Amino acid sequence: MPIDTHPRRSLLSEPLLKARSITKSYAGVQALKGASLELLRGEVHALVGENGAGKSTLTKVITGAITADSGTLEVCGQQVARNDPSISRSLGIAAVYQQPSLFPHLTVAENIALALEGDGSSWTVDWKSRYARAKELIERVGASIDPRRPAGSLTMAEQQIVEIAKMLGAKARIFLMDEPTALLTDREVDNLFQLIGRLRDEGAGILYISHRLEEILSIADRITVLRDGEVIACRDAAEVDRSELIHLMVGRSIRSIFPKREVPIGDIALEVRNLRNGSVGLKDISFSVRRGEIFGLAGLVGSGRTELARTLFGLTPSDSTILLGGKPTRIGSPTEAIRRGIGYVPEDRRQHGVILEMGVAFNISLANLQSVSKWGLINRDKEDDLAKLYVDEMRIKTASVSGVAGTLSGGNQQKVALARWMAIHPRIMILDEPTQGVDVGSKSEIHDLVMQMAERGVAILLISSELPEILGMSDRIGVMHAGRMMGILSRQAATQSSIMTMAFGHACSGV
Ligand SMILES: Nc1ncnc2c1ncn2[C@@H]1O[C@H](COP(=O)(O)OP(=O)(O)OP(=O)(O)O)[C@@H](O)[C@H]1O
Ligand SMILES: [Mg+2]
Repeated sequence: MPIDTHPRRSLLSEPLLKARSITKSYAGVQALKGASLELLRGEVHALVGENGAGKSTLTKVITGAITADSGTLEVCGQQVARNDPSISRSLGIAAVYQQPSLFPHLTVAENIALALEGDGSSWTVDWKSRYARAKELIERVGASIDPRRPAGSLTMAEQQIVEIAKMLGAKARIFLMDEPTALLTDREVDNLFQLIGRLRDEGAGILYISHRLEEILSIADRITVLRDGEVIACRDAAEVDRSELIHLMVGRSIRSIFPKREVPIGDIALEVRNLRNGSVGLKDISFSVRRGEIFGLAGLVGSGRTELARTLFGLTPSDSTILLGGKPTRIGSPTEAIRRGIGYVPEDRRQHGVILEMGVAFNISLANLQSVSKWGLINRDKEDDLAKLYVDEMRIKTASVSGVAGTLSGGNQQKVALARWMAIHPRIMILDEPTQGVDVGSKSEIHDLVMQMAERGVAILLISSELPEILGMSDRIGVMHAGRMMGILSRQAATQSSIMTMAFGHACSGV
């Protein structure tokens, strides 16, 4: 074991994890160029950087999901000669994902039992003690979830908590969290932070990746900044502020985060009157969006915002009629929606936004095949030209326009999803969490693009869970709760608390 000469550290604070000079190349891209990082006991260590900086790649090297080209890993002073997911798990490394991987039809206790006994070891446990153990682990993470509930009936946040409890049961000490709060409501984020605090107090180390700088500054002890695969800085969180952090991340100064500009508001482009959709729980929704207007849609996760977007785009058609440019219309399918000038960037870009197996150029031209094809044949050069235009304009980080979309970093995939719709000049654009998982620099670029669309007269429906974004960008804000529109606020009248009050509305049931 190497002797630690750092004066402030006792032997006990031998780092839990040391990653040294890690390099990793993919075809054409060097994702990590000799990155090093130390995770201490009882520390929340944030890893920040622009989209494509290499954050996820570094965590994947640590979990053994991918193999580094060079560099070393040490856990508690011991070099890890070979790594793969099961070795890394046995070393106490646990990865917490946005979307937990519990078996939905099994109960919480069964899920935990499966993880802890799943190696087929001979000791058997009766159900009573399985429940007792599950209960104890859940209490240890400070939650109160009935272990008898099927995992599928839990909210995403509850599942995440069970996942962490499960990992604690498996004696994990190193927790890697890659954007764990992306799908959580504010209240759920608070719960997760309390839990992270407990893990830290128990001596665990938490590597925490997020694009939400406020979160980082409030929870992290130290912050490592990655830029283009290199570690640019490692600082005590108490010693940096937001603007310095941004500067370290992007290496350039950024324009204002919300570039809201005055745009002349035109005629009503979309009007929804008493829209209902029983199959997805939407009730009696009425609102309208004018040309050039940004209509923000706020509400808690599960309040029906995404369901409304999917209904308007024809993915979950309803019998209700909507008015487009004053004309009553029924949207029965996405094809029809696109034909009528409605564009949609979904929240879950992995499911509906970007076709991960296909190239960037293909993805960008997808909604706009007429412009790049003739007599039904796609002209690849035209397709590439169109894509290059947007790759440049939106600073999409990809080795080439023929690069496979699935290999782009999360934030860059999101830009591809947006570029596709920019290319067809829709009349109405529905954006569901367009800056989720997007770094600060790209975020202000995306906000600017949204403004440009508005300036071209596009009516925009902007769904976002980030209140500063909703408040910063919207002309009016509709607040949803349990499938209903609770009310509509003007830009002037809206505040964080007025929105939250409405979002919780008659909120005691359910969520
Ligand atoms: N399987 C792969 N094939 C090719 N290139 C890849 C692959 N995985 C990642 N990359 C590239 O490596 C670089 C780093 O990606 P990584 O996913 O680590 O970024 P990130 O910092 O997590 O970004 P984000 O904040 O957007 O999630 C990116 O340029 C990405 O395109
Ligand atoms: Mg990532």
